[in-house]
Amino acid sequence: MHKFTTIIAGLALLCASFSLHAQDATIRIHDEGTGVTIPAEIYGQFSEHLGRCIYGGLWVGKDSKVPNVEGYRKDVFDALKALKVPVMRWPGGCFADDYHWMDGIGPQEKRAYIANNNWGGTLEDNSFGTHEFLNLCEMLGIEPYISGNVGSGSVEEMAKWVEYMTSDASSNMADLRRANGREKPWKVKYFGIGNEAWGCGGNMTPEYYSDLFRRYATYLRDLGGNHLYKIASGASDYDYNWTKVLMNNIGADKGMKGISLHYYTNIGGWVGSKTSATQFSDATYYTTLSKTIEIEEVLQKHIDIMDTIDPEGRVDLLLDEWGTWFDVEPGTNPGHLYQQNTMRDAIVAALNFDIFHKYTRRLKMANIAQVVNVLQAMILTNETEMVLTPTYHVFEMYNVHQNAEFVASDILTKTVKSDRKCPVPEVDATVSRKDGVMNISLVNTDLKKAKKVLITFDNEKAVSAITAARVLTSKDVHDYNDFGKANVVEPKAFKDYKLTKAGLEVTLPPCSIAVLAAK
Ligand code: AHR
Repeated sequence: MHKFTTIIAGLALLCASFSLHAQDATIRIHDEGTGVTIPAEIYGQFSEHLGRCIYGGLWVGKDSKVPNVEGYRKDVFDALKALKVPVMRWPGGCFADDYHWMDGIGPQEKRAYIANNNWGGTLEDNSFGTHEFLNLCEMLGIEPYISGNVGSGSVEEMAKWVEYMTSDASSNMADLRRANGREKPWKVKYFGIGNEAWGCGGNMTPEYYSDLFRRYATYLRDLGGNHLYKIASGASDYDYNWTKVLMNNIGADKGMKGISLHYYTNIGGWVGSKTSATQFSDATYYTTLSKTIEIEEVLQKHIDIMDTIDPEGRVDLLLDEWGTWFDVEPGTNPGHLYQQNTMRDAIVAALNFDIFHKYTRRLKMANIAQVVNVLQAMILTNETEMVLTPTYHVFEMYNVHQNAEFVASDILTKTVKSDRKCPVPEVDATVSRKDGVMNISLVNTDLKKAKKVLITFDNEKAVSAITAARVLTSKDVHDYNDFGKANVVEPKAFKDYKLTKAGLEVTLPPCSIAVLAAK
């Protein structure tokens, strides 16, 4: 692996009066403020009827022996509350284009049951439906994001769903909702018109999908005081043509408020083995990080297209699926996408946030796949226990950046080369400010060496004390939390910093993530 020095963000550092001699990385904070707020929705979640995300994850039913709050698993419910989830996408994913919402309303025992043919043919008894999802969101203060069925549904079905959820009029659908026990309508803001229309959502061309979007959007009405934010099914990864066609053929005038993007950290490709979630070499670790930070170029290219076609910025970019995609755990159903989650996943999450925070001029939401028991999950469950993953802890520690003002900084760090194109920074960071507190989150990607980081400020008096500091690390990057061993990787108090005349000097342990609050 070759290491070389690079400037990660901005050129202002060239004029700064420090070098890398005494430390491994330097960060210059321009604390005059940018006026840019990091949307809380960057910390969004995705929940699909897939494997044990819904059943056994979020929902066990009211009659379950598993402790529950009106049918929601209590341990998971409480963990999500602590996470401050801003937005949650449901019911898919690929499942969304197979989902017929009327199967999931009314008395539970009378609901239709189907085979979930997208995901292993598992029985779907529809006991978790519209009421169960929207009530969960309401109880946890989460903004719901509904994904509608274009692939196998109809305009009528989708329009009626919106009416059922949001109408306060006297109409068939609103009355059906009332008969099913919900008097007042819910507020539903985010509504996706299809999912992956280029693939599992109907294998369409962008031109054909654009026309369909326009047709569906026409009949999805703002009812009562509800305002829908309509989202087009956007591109996968490097499909820039998809974004271009949708921006040209739909645009804000035809009701497209947001366009989605999916990008997974899947280093083995889609077909065949993707590599183990827990057993990987140092080289594979760096390959994973390189693939994950490649998202910056992907975001930039989609945003460039959007900027050209929509210079006023009327359409937002929403990364509504992202995260690691490894092999399923041995012995589990391959269709259930259940994978473990190590310190590597935590580093992946932190590096992604550092990138997302820089693009919030256009990027207004990101939903990690998925919240419980699927892919890069926050939470893993078995029948009786729950485990918070290292990724959960990153989301929790980085809560401080939600709705905070982004503060510009320049980082001077070495990088590590892998067999993919993007060099991996040894040190990375985000700085934001909220309620008079400057929050500095730092990542050390180096597996073996601690990193000395010198943080300096344009305004020398900007920081006089560190009021809180925590670090997430573990002896081994392969470490993970498991049933019976739930606390192997968890945040701890962090003390390895000092304020000196030179600035804030921090020593980050190998493979670690730290968050410091400064005043
Ligand atoms: O998150 C798993 C699947 O990945 C989703 O259902 C689909 O949209 C994507 O291909």
